[in-house]
Amino acid sequence: RSSEHIRIVEVGPRDGLQNEKQSISLATKMELIERLARTGLETIEAGSFVAPKWVPQMANSSEILQHILQTPPASKEPITYQFLLPNIKGLDNFMTTYDSFNTSKSAEEAYPTPPGTPPAENTSSQDPNASEISPQQTPKIELSLFTAATESFTQKNTNCSIAESLKRFEPIMSRAKSLALPVRAYISVALGCPYEGPDTDPHRVAELAVSLLEMGADEISVGDTTGMGTAPKTAALLKVLKEAGVETKDLALHFHDTYGMALVNTVVALEHGVRTFDASVSGLGGCPYSPGATGNVATEDLVHLVNSLGASTGVNLEELSKVGEWISGELGRKNDANAGKAVLAR
Ligand code: HMG
Ligand code: MG
Repeated sequence: RSSEHIRIVEVGPRDGLQNEKQSISLATKMELIERLARTGLETIEAGSFVAPKWVPQMANSSEILQHILQTPPASKEPITYQFLLPNIKGLDNFMTTYDSFNTSKSAEEAYPTPPGTPPAENTSSQDPNASEISPQQTPKIELSLFTAATESFTQKNTNCSIAESLKRFEPIMSRAKSLALPVRAYISVALGCPYEGPDTDPHRVAELAVSLLEMGADEISVGDTTGMGTAPKTAALLKVLKEAGVETKDLALHFHDTYGMALVNTVVALEHGVRTFDASVSGLGGCPYSPGATGNVATEDLVHLVNSLGASTGVNLEELSKVGEWISGELGRKNDANAGKAVLAR
């Protein structure tokens, strides 16, 4: 598979930080996102518009969105930023910021001149940085929705049934389509549930994936939230997804590394044709509703694996490793990226 491109969705700023108990400053979050953007990563999940009383760490995601929309790009390649949201209230909150600061609209459309205002030099924004972004440079924004393959997890995570979670997505999908915003949809606990055990029904996952694609999702991210996935279980799930008509081009896999199986499962998924994987720099994170589960597979380790197979991610491993070491230090936690630590020790 030489020259094959593997797409990485960096979820560290969202999945990685959402569960941190200490408050992390907005400046640190923004610096993390900017540093990641300079490593060659093409997609970064930057925050979530969920209820702050449930996940307080993500409460300032609108400021992060505003910053992304107003700051000239950190890389020459266009970067896609994703924001997670659970319901129409999350979309409304997202839209308030997106509408105000999306410079891909004409300046007049985004910031209409109030009647009677004398002509001004620059009416595009009060922020001097905003006028430096041309519409062509505007970052791409995507939305991520999330449901789960078991009723217990869905209740804990979003306080509703699986069917209700899909119902909540309908108006979000149609508004996202009308705004031409791509939508990815996560299916959590696909390889094991903290409340219902390790044997999630793969047919339930496939059924959900088909429904979400039919509703208009552009990509399905299948989440091993607990890290209970193994090579045989991953292979079995991918077989069932294929039989249900879910194509690998529409799939991403999202492994957490609780049992150290994430890279093994990644190899299985690569062999089944999957080409998009979620990962978190220095293995940050965990889900607040999956007790004991650790972070995602470390992005550094995933990049090293892909490189070792002769495929490419476009990510500079050395630069990424420095980011992993830096953010681990900022958070006062151990760097969980084996390849990252090895690269820095060379
Ligand atoms: P609820 O309490 O049932 O909602 O929460 P509600 O409609 O009754 O509202 C309660 C309060 O929250 C109200 O405020 C609402 O306005 C407010 P109050 O009147 O009390 O002042 N509210 C909101 N505020 C901001 N943004 C919103 C929002 N919605 C309501 N969007 C809800 C239901 C879904 C909102 C809640 O359960 C929630 O936010 N859940 C999110 C949990 C979460 O973020 N989990 C982690 C992300 S998923 C994950 O990590 C897995 C993944 O990585 C893949 C994998 O590994 O499997 C993606
Ligand atoms: Mg996750």
